[in-house]
Amino acid sequence: MTTDDKKAKELQVSRRQLLRTGVGLVGATGAGLLASGLAAGELSSSDPAGFVSPVETPRAANGETMVGVKFEARGTVRLGVIGVGSRGTGMLGNFLAIPHVQVNAICDSVKEHAKHAQEMVEKSSGKKPEIYANGEHDYENLCKRNDLDFIYIATPWQWHAPMGIAAMKGGAHAGLEVPAVVTVEECEQIVETSEKTRRHCLIMENCCYGESELLVLNMVRAGMFGELLHGEGAYIHDLRKIVNEDRSEGLWRREWHTKLNGNMYPTHGLGPVANYMGINRGDKFEYIVSMSSPQAGLDAYREATVPKDSPKWKEKYICGDMNTSLIKTAKGRTIMVQHDVVNPQPYDRINLIKGVKGMFRGYPDRIFFDGQKGEEAYTGLDAYKEQYEHKLWKEHGKDAEDKGHGGMDYLMLLRLVQCLREGLEPDIDVYDAAAWSAIGGLSEKSVAEGSAPQKFPDFTHGAWKQRNGSAI
Ligand SMILES: NC(=O)c1ccc[n+]([C@@H]2O[C@H](COP(=O)([O-])OP(=O)(O)OC[C@H]3O[C@@H](n4cnc5c(N)ncnc54)[C@H](O)[C@@H]3O)[C@@H](O)[C@H]2O)c1
Repeated sequence: MTTDDKKAKELQVSRRQLLRTGVGLVGATGAGLLASGLAAGELSSSDPAGFVSPVETPRAANGETMVGVKFEARGTVRLGVIGVGSRGTGMLGNFLAIPHVQVNAICDSVKEHAKHAQEMVEKSSGKKPEIYANGEHDYENLCKRNDLDFIYIATPWQWHAPMGIAAMKGGAHAGLEVPAVVTVEECEQIVETSEKTRRHCLIMENCCYGESELLVLNMVRAGMFGELLHGEGAYIHDLRKIVNEDRSEGLWRREWHTKLNGNMYPTHGLGPVANYMGINRGDKFEYIVSMSSPQAGLDAYREATVPKDSPKWKEKYICGDMNTSLIKTAKGRTIMVQHDVVNPQPYDRINLIKGVKGMFRGYPDRIFFDGQKGEEAYTGLDAYKEQYEHKLWKEHGKDAEDKGHGGMDYLMLLRLVQCLREGLEPDIDVYDAAAWSAIGGLSEKSVAEGSAPQKFPDFTHGAWKQRNGSAI
C-alpha cells in the first residue's frame, strides 16, 4: 500500500460514521449538465488528501432511486403552502400568477399571516383555501390532506426537514426553500424518505433560474468553455438590518449566528455552479475544506444600533463573518463557496466558471474566451444572448420582468408547474437538495477541526456516474 493509499484509507469516512457525527447546517442541490472533461467515473489519482478514490456506496436505502423518476402528469396543480411570512407570501403571489395552479391549503403558525394569504388566494381565484394556524405543528394536519399535489415550504430553516418529510409521507411532492435542510443527517433523511415514499423533495433554488445563470449554462452545454476546471459562488449580502429586526427573519435567522460557525446559506451561489459542472450528473462533490474569519460584524452593528437594555446584548455570536470553503469534485475540479451577511458590502454571488477555453464571472457579468479581441480584457454577455439565451427566458422573460428577484422566482415556479403538469422529471431533485445543503454541516465540522477535509456522502448511491444532463 502506498503512502497515498494509506492516507486515503485513514481519511475515508463511511456514510454512517459521517451521519453520526454530522452537525450544523446544510443546504442544497445541484443539477445540470455536464459539458465534458473526464468521462464519468474517471478519477484523478493525484489528489493529496486522498479523497478522490471512488468509495463503494450502498444502494438506495430502499433499493429504489429517485433518479429519472417523473412527476405524474395532471391538468391542475393542487398546492399547499406552509409558511407565509416574507418569502412565502411573495412566492404565493407568483404561484397565483401561473395558470392551472389551485391553492387548497395554507399553514402558518401566526394566524394573521395565514389569513392574509387566504385573502390573497380568495381575491385571485374566488375560492378560500383552508387555513392551518393552530400552533407550530398544525402543518402535520395540512400534510394529511389528500387533495395536495405539491407542498411549498418557506419557514425558518429548522422546520424544513420535518415539514418536507411530513409532506412526502402525506403523499405530496415537497418543495423546500433554501437551504433545503440544516444537518447532514437531515440530508440523509429527506433522501431516504423521498426514495421510500416515491415523492420528490426539491430545493427551491431560484438563482438557478436567473437569466445570466441559464445563459451561461447553455454556453457550458455547447462546450464554449471547454473542459471545466474551477467555479466560484457566494452569498455576500448586507443583512445586518434584516437579521436585527424584531420581525420576519430577525426573529430566527440571527440565532443561527449564535449556533453555527460555517457556511449556513450556501446554495444561491453554489447551485448554478453545480449545474454548470453537472454535479450528481457525471461529477459529484467529494470533500470540502473550510475556514472562517473572525466574528465581528454583528458585534459592531449591535454596538452602533442596539439599545443597551435590549435582550440582544445577551447573545454571543460565534459564526465567523466570512466563511470560505473549497470543494473538490470527483473529476478533480475545484469550487470556492463564500458566505458573509453581516458586513457593509454590495450584493455578490460571484457566479464564476472557468474552463480551458475561457471563463465567465458575474457581478457584473463578464466573459473572456481564448483568442478574444482585446487580449486580456473581459467583454459583456450581450453578444452571446441571441444564440444562447435560455428558452425559458426567451419565451417567458417579458412576463417575469416585473416579478420578484428580477424574474427568476416566477420562472422557477412556471417551470415547476410545467414539469408537474406534463409529467416530466424535476430539474433539480432530492439528491441535489442534499448535496448542496450538506455544505452547512460539513463546513461547520471542517472549521471546528482546523479546516480538516470532510467527505461528502454519496447521496445518489453511485447513480451520479451513469447520469448526465439536466432538463432545465
Ligand atoms: N430563495 C430566496 O431567494 C429566499 C429569500 C428569502 C427567504 N428565503 C427562505 O425562505 C424561508 C422563509 O424565510 P422568510 O424570509 O419568509 O422568513 P419569515 O420569518 O418572514 O417567514 C417565515 C414564516 O414561517 C412561519 N412559521 C414559523 N414556524 C412555523 C411553523 N412551525 N408552522 C407554520 N409556520 C411557521 C412564520 O410565522 C413566518 O410567517 C427561509 O428558509 C429562507 O431562507 C429564500
